[in-house]
Amino acid sequence: MSAKDAGEATLQYGDQSITLPVREGSEGERGVDISALRKETGLITIDPGYGNTGSCESAITFIDGEKGILRYRGYPIEELAEKSSFLEVAYLLIHGELPNKEQREEFDLDVTRHTMLHEDFKKLFGAMPKSAHPMPVTAAASSALATFYQEPETAEMMERAVVRLLAKMPTIAAFAYKHSIGQPFMYPRNSLDYSSNFLHMMFSVPCEEYEVDPVVARALDLLLILHADHEQNCSTSTVRMVGSSRAPLFASISAGISALWGSLHGGANQRVIEMLEQIEREDGSADKFLERAKDKNDTTRLMGFGHRVYKSYDPRAAILRKACEDVTKRMGGDVGGLLDIAMRLEEITLKDDYFIQRRLYPNVDFYSGVIYKAIGIPVNMFTVMFAMGRLPGWIAQWLEMRRDPAFRIGRPRQIYTGETERHI
Ligand code: CMC
Repeated sequence: MSAKDAGEATLQYGDQSITLPVREGSEGERGVDISALRKETGLITIDPGYGNTGSCESAITFIDGEKGILRYRGYPIEELAEKSSFLEVAYLLIHGELPNKEQREEFDLDVTRHTMLHEDFKKLFGAMPKSAHPMPVTAAASSALATFYQEPETAEMMERAVVRLLAKMPTIAAFAYKHSIGQPFMYPRNSLDYSSNFLHMMFSVPCEEYEVDPVVARALDLLLILHADHEQNCSTSTVRMVGSSRAPLFASISAGISALWGSLHGGANQRVIEMLEQIEREDGSADKFLERAKDKNDTTRLMGFGHRVYKSYDPRAAILRKACEDVTKRMGGDVGGLLDIAMRLEEITLKDDYFIQRRLYPNVDFYSGVIYKAIGIPVNMFTVMFAMGRLPGWIAQWLEMRRDPAFRIGRPRQIYTGETERHI
């Protein structure tokens, strides 16, 4: 389904006038098609941060940021979170439909069979310092997959590459962690489901098998589902941009992982827990911290708050807030205090003029860290978890772009503000 015609818009500049087509998507979103603008008038558009730029037509994810709606392929995130597994959601994003029983079993089996890494691949981890953050290690390893597997040339090979990526990413992530703490790598277990297998590779040691708690595995699966896609965000646009030069899938995904690392994007989940711990260490006063976040002379931001698209409550945060209470109650441990601080922060921001005026609400990263911590995921692995979750979305978006007959290399313009011609 492609966007339909929805009238025209006229742009007037001096004595120039141009009529531009308006396109409308299936949920009524409209965009002015400016692709002829420069050719006809010499003008380009300026849109720092691409806040008003539709870079593509896409049939994968729909977000209504005003109403707090998120749907994958038409299905509300709340329903998928309640009724699906992460691999079903991955299948949905990549193939466009939820799998039937047979397709699900085949897909599960296929992914399970490809979880191992080539033995030589392990040397890659050894070449990196133990103190390295696991995000660049994961990015490097996913790029290195392109050195072990040739670029897919047929649809069948592409299908295989997609399965390999989904299957090997948890192994890469867990090996990155094991390397950082100096423990032996734990090989995947075919008898375990996707999330349980990841927990096994993270926490088992040769002398003691980690017993997977189904509540923990389900909490992890839920987190992965909620992160699985989010239309044209920074990392996804990066994956599309890199792939638009015809760079291979593995390399494009590696670039997406790097983009995700930043603290304004996926890296925020690590920063949220560090912020909550800092508040707890200082005096537990959420109110004082909030004043700093509002002070324009202070660079502090309230991590896990605000979103470019959501101008009401992020629906993923709403699901996680509930899960957070359930998981922390069940797991006990030392996260209760952090959850109390998080809830207090939320309570006061929702009544605070600064946050109300700017329409800043908790985003997906605000509560995810508390759950990761409750289920024992180390803080520096939080953003790697986000990457594991976002993987099917990146793959689906990359495939959609490469199959689009209108696909062109991504290449924005600029307004040059440097020196005019001069000579040595
Ligand atoms: N704390 C305090 N003030 C904030 C915050 C915040 N977290 N977020 C935005 N603002 C203020 C900002 O200072 C600006 O104020 P003013 O109009 O007075 O200059 C106004 O709100 C608009 O902010 P912006 O930076 O122009 O908004 P943006 O759309 O460019 O940025 C954002 C969105 C998510 C980068 C930003 O809200 C932020 O830095 N949040 C904290 C980091 C974070 O939680 N990131 C995770 C995002 S969700 C997961 C993902 O998809 O990556």
